[in-house]
Amino acid sequence: SAPQVIAMDGPAASGKSSVAREVAAKLGWIYVNTGNMYRAATWAVVESGTNPEDEAAVLAVVQGTDFQCTVEGGRSVIRVNGADVELQLNSESVNRGVSYVAKIPQVREILVAMQRDVGHTHPSVMEGRDIGTVVFPDALVKFYIDASEEVRAKRRGLQGHADSVGERDRIDSTRKVAPLTAAADAVVVDSSEMTLAQVVARIMELLHERG
Ligand code: C5P
Repeated sequence: SAPQVIAMDGPAASGKSSVAREVAAKLGWIYVNTGNMYRAATWAVVESGTNPEDEAAVLAVVQGTDFQCTVEGGRSVIRVNGADVELQLNSESVNRGVSYVAKIPQVREILVAMQRDVGHTHPSVMEGRDIGTVVFPDALVKFYIDASEEVRAKRRGLQGHADSVGERDRIDSTRKVAPLTAAADAVVVDSSEMTLAQVVARIMELLHERG
């Protein structure tokens, strides 16, 4: 039977995090933010003084770091060598480095294993870039949340970091392994002209239609 996973992929600042969080809360499922896992790896890299663009050095740091994913308060929490670093994951240096770290296949293998572990043990709404295509190709339902470039720039600006989004999307979409793309069987929702509440309502409607 299909894993109890709803996949939610899309570009940066498409609104998918807020949507995934709300849908998970409505269903009573776990909210899993896989971007935070790539951010945690990047935080460890930056913290060690390593250049995120130095692939061999990055891999050495990541392989020498202990990442742990637990489920707390209805969501996944990622720890780095035992420490909760969540509050440091949206720094400018992490924003700038994360797409370089995330394009290394061996880094992805480590984090994808954690993602599959959570998804197989908890009914999850999992958001990221490759959940429907790679992590859970057999997910119950797949959504791809999109928004125009203009709207996304504005949404990211509201969150206080407008800059590296375009560059991240470029690297994420063109990498060799697990590039950002909608799965062939994903339901694409363009949220450009929709409020968060409208997107959530639409998704709940689609989920009910599918039983
Ligand atoms: O979702 P968020 O914008 O926080 O993700 C940060 C970065 O992590 C993305 O720009 C991408 O490089 C990487 N990522 C990924 N695969 C995922 C989730 C995030 O490569 N499933």
